[in-house]
Amino acid sequence: MIQNVAKALGVLVLSSVLLAGPVLAEQPIIIKFSHVVAADTPKGNAAEFFKKRAEELTKGKVKVEVYPNSQLYKDKEELEALQMGAVQMLAPSLAKFGPLGVKEFEVFDLPFIFNGYEDLHKVTKGPVGQQLLAKLEPKGIKGLAYWDNGFKSFSANTPIKTPEDLKGKKLRIQSSKVLEAQMRALKAIPQVMPFSEVYQALQTGVVDGTENPISNFYTQKMQEVQKYMTLTDHGYLGYAVIVNKKFWNELPADIRTQLETAMKEATDYANKIAKESNDKDLESVKASGKTEVTALTAEQRAAFKKVLVPVHDKMASRIGKDTIEAVQKAVGFTK
Ligand code: LMR
Repeated sequence: MIQNVAKALGVLVLSSVLLAGPVLAEQPIIIKFSHVVAADTPKGNAAEFFKKRAEELTKGKVKVEVYPNSQLYKDKEELEALQMGAVQMLAPSLAKFGPLGVKEFEVFDLPFIFNGYEDLHKVTKGPVGQQLLAKLEPKGIKGLAYWDNGFKSFSANTPIKTPEDLKGKKLRIQSSKVLEAQMRALKAIPQVMPFSEVYQALQTGVVDGTENPISNFYTQKMQEVQKYMTLTDHGYLGYAVIVNKKFWNELPADIRTQLETAMKEATDYANKIAKESNDKDLESVKASGKTEVTALTAEQRAAFKKVLVPVHDKMASRIGKDTIEAVQKAVGFTK
């Protein structure tokens, strides 16, 4: 009898050990997705959309944790964290890949190279965009998609109608040498600064002004600390969605396929909401009554172009003449 009980207990213990195996194996795969902008932005909303679809399509086998607003990491740190595997997914601005050694992405920062989203998509949805993403692989990073934000406007505490109006101003930029050259062409003083520090720098006068798509301006409440904004649309700001390459390659194949589908859907969504979101936020900035928003006349715009387009040739040695020409050709750019 005692022997039988012991045997039965043994079977019980053994079966619970055997059961524990599969239970442990069912732990979800966690994707930490860190970003630096507010949740209600084109990038923030697209990240949430990806989370929802990734969790649905994998039936909970993948859990995506989205951390907005530099909660986890600031600009430069987040790229290091991705390479180390501390986070799995990011969507940094295309202007932030230079410090990683992939300078070609700075082609997207060239002033007036894209005449709207349609032009831009000829690059991001075409072979040049794919070739650029492939350049991330030797850095241990896989590029999955491009997500739009929008076209940038200058802001400051004094009116901006001509390029001379920015002369001598300290202007915050992202970490791109093209943006540095752009500000120098305007005879302004560029200051590289993480996105999370911009509001305070504007508030305390560490910098006088900056450039942003309206969605970033409004969701960081920059209307509280900038009296003037001019709708220059002089440059583009968008994102590359990237993952740690080792993490991605080691995913079970069926899960990776489901995540690719979720990413494709999230990309369509991101690119659909970007313009709407910027248009809506522009109305909110105007309604705030705090920042005076000005449009440029055709002549004023031509004056900005005249000063800024020479940056293309100046930056050829940094970005690579081939890359610049490939993009110019894809969009039919003429000076
Ligand atoms: C910025 O630093 O201005 C932007 O790159 C922030 C962002 O991610 O849109």
